[in-house]
Amino acid sequence: MIDQREDLYGAATPQELAAEVYENYKEFVNPPLARVMKLSGSPVEVRASGCTIWDHTGKPYLDFAGGYGVFTLGYSHPHVVAAVHDQLDRIALSGKTMFNVLLGRAARRLAELAPGDLQVSFWCNSGTEAIEGAIKLARAATGRATIVGTEDAFHGKTLGALSVSGRETFQTPFRPLLADSVCVPYGQTEGLENILRDAAALVVEPVQGEGGVHVPPPEYLTAVRAACDATGALFIADEVQTGLGRCGYRFACERDGVVPDVMTLAKGLSGGVVPVGAFIARAQLWNRAFGRAPLLHTSTFGGNELACAAALAAMDVLENEGLVQAARDRGEQLLRGAQTIAAQYPAVVREARGLGLLVGVELTSEGYGGWVIPEMLKHGVTAAWTLNAQRVIRLEPPLIVSAQQVDRALDALRAGVATAFEKLGTL
Ligand SMILES: Cc1ncc(COP(=O)(O)O)c(C=O)c1O
Repeated sequence: MIDQREDLYGAATPQELAAEVYENYKEFVNPPLARVMKLSGSPVEVRASGCTIWDHTGKPYLDFAGGYGVFTLGYSHPHVVAAVHDQLDRIALSGKTMFNVLLGRAARRLAELAPGDLQVSFWCNSGTEAIEGAIKLARAATGRATIVGTEDAFHGKTLGALSVSGRETFQTPFRPLLADSVCVPYGQTEGLENILRDAAALVVEPVQGEGGVHVPPPEYLTAVRAACDATGALFIADEVQTGLGRCGYRFACERDGVVPDVMTLAKGLSGGVVPVGAFIARAQLWNRAFGRAPLLHTSTFGGNELACAAALAAMDVLENEGLVQAARDRGEQLLRGAQTIAAQYPAVVREARGLGLLVGVELTSEGYGGWVIPEMLKHGVTAAWTLNAQRVIRLEPPLIVSAQQVDRALDALRAGVATAFEKLGTL
């Protein structure tokens, strides 16, 4: 049993802690976000373990937002925490002038797990950095400039990644973005070869996450592979959200049995403990891009020992605890349950869809949204909107989630949808 007073970070009461954090956000972090979070009644997170987060009042929540896909192993998995603790006492960050044992081991392990002949990896600290590196690799390896993305995609918010993401709101204030970047419809391959003819790469998510959880038709990635082969454009699979078990495959591109030229990872690679990102490429391509000068693409913090200890432990846990299969089984249960709710409340829910434990619940109107997620929170379950589709609630729990916990989340979703219908009727 956790002593709640220990969780107040030195504040005298939960209310005092909540007031302090709001004030800090409002003055020093992000004033408009502070207001939005306050209006939506956002609690303060103070502790987390497994699939549960506790707020400042001691209330537990089943976390079905899952850090937007970070917590594949849940919070504070003991194997990852122990590996990071051990490493902290030895060497935490790389001095950079000597060989780093754990970076070598993590890169080797990733190559063993990755599909096909993906082999050489670069390690960074986030998903967007992984995308930046992959774009640079594609330009340097092909000598071409154009990077093709897909409509509604999300690849991150640094300028390169933003250039091939598909939401105007996030792009407009920062134009001009990367010259020669274009977007094509997701899931369609008609005319793709023409567009790729002079392109350096196509960046594509095997399941479009932030765009609203869109699972492409079977064979889409096979056709993408063929179009890239025919044109010499590189196929960059952005597996930042879908990789490492999330979709019931080790990597979601394995659903079509396809090997991309470059794959980007982050989120789950952290083990939920230390931020990590990486991109991995075929050796021949990597050498063509970066082989001429060893410092062509670097990062001071990238590949540090703490991050690599976390990633190595995370890859172990994923394999040893059978989490890929677990994601498939629990994902089917979650999707079936969400589809039943959709059938019960067709006025509120247009569709439930997904792959593995990445499930999207599309509402018929954004208007209902103001009721569903807050009501789920009241029932002790977190959920979140997808970033580029504000009508889609994503359910993305840790892969260690139990069947009972999935049922509890479905009960909360049903209650949220029922309340929305009760309050607003048909919109
Ligand atoms: C598919 C995909 N790529 C890239 C990113 C960017 O990752 P990060 O927020 O770590 O920069 C995200 C984040 O949600 C993502 O879902």
